[in-house]
Amino acid sequence: MAHEYFTHKGVLFPSLFYSPAALSYVENEFQVRDDDIFNVTYPKSGTNWMLEILSLIRCDGDPGWVRSVLNWERAPWVGSQKGLEAALKYPPPRLLCSHLPVQLFPRSLQGSKAKIIYTLRCPKDILVSLYHFTKLFPHIKTLGSLDSFLEDFLSGNVGYGSWFDHVTGWMGLKGNENFFSITYEELQEDPRGSVRRICHFLGKELSEEQVAAVVENASFQSMRANKMSNFSQVVDEKMDHHKGQLLRKGICGDWRNHFSEAQSQRFDAVYRERMQGLGMTFPWD
Ligand code: PPS
Repeated sequence: MAHEYFTHKGVLFPSLFYSPAALSYVENEFQVRDDDIFNVTYPKSGTNWMLEILSLIRCDGDPGWVRSVLNWERAPWVGSQKGLEAALKYPPPRLLCSHLPVQLFPRSLQGSKAKIIYTLRCPKDILVSLYHFTKLFPHIKTLGSLDSFLEDFLSGNVGYGSWFDHVTGWMGLKGNENFFSITYEELQEDPRGSVRRICHFLGKELSEEQVAAVVENASFQSMRANKMSNFSQVVDEKMDHHKGQLLRKGICGDWRNHFSEAQSQRFDAVYRERMQGLGMTFPWD
């Protein structure tokens, strides 16, 4: 996968969207504002779902904004070259997304009051989602079997690096009053309660009707039908829309339809070893 990715400080990044210069600028010079809200995830964890929820919360559940403005314009990707340019022009208060591991995140986060929402998901489901999603990118020519992808995923030889490093790094901020974590599984299990918790963290009061409107307009069906949210506007040269879509299945536990027993056991062994020191349990444990 060497030519489709480059390594920056030990982490692989897709060359199509990232450059070492932009990553260095983001880490060392990008100025975080106190009123920034960051939607941070490891890829395929529910980034776009959370972005939709945050966009709708900002509009009190009114879908006007999510139906008229592309999601990557509503919340630029801090780290990518284009996202960085958009973030710098964004009138505050900014809504921003990032897949960056914590050690490459803007240093100016320290000491700021910016809010971080970190969404996690069952890593086996992430792996399956990522495997399918990677096939949609024509410039990535070296995607092997699920077996070899599993080894790449477990060793962190994938874009944005190791899931284990990402999660353990960001969850180190747990307990910080400006850090909020939630799982994709909790969003599925209790969407209204999850939206209420996010609102509480943001200090935003919404009525029950407005919370219901957020949930409805950010549902899998609503987002799949919304061309501002479903990636259908990504140009064909970058994404092959005939091979699939961002909103693929939107369920928990799809890994069971793809992993063999041996693959699952292999994954579990590495998971136990890498996660045992974290002292946290997750819905998929
Ligand atoms: S990306 O490319 O890393 O930003 O992808 P990301 O948005 O993090 O993750 C994509 C997966 O999230 C699912 N998704 C949803 N599930 C439920 N409800 C809603 N509203 C929703 N929106 C996105 C999407 O289907 C991808 O998961 P899979 O398992 O591939 O279906």
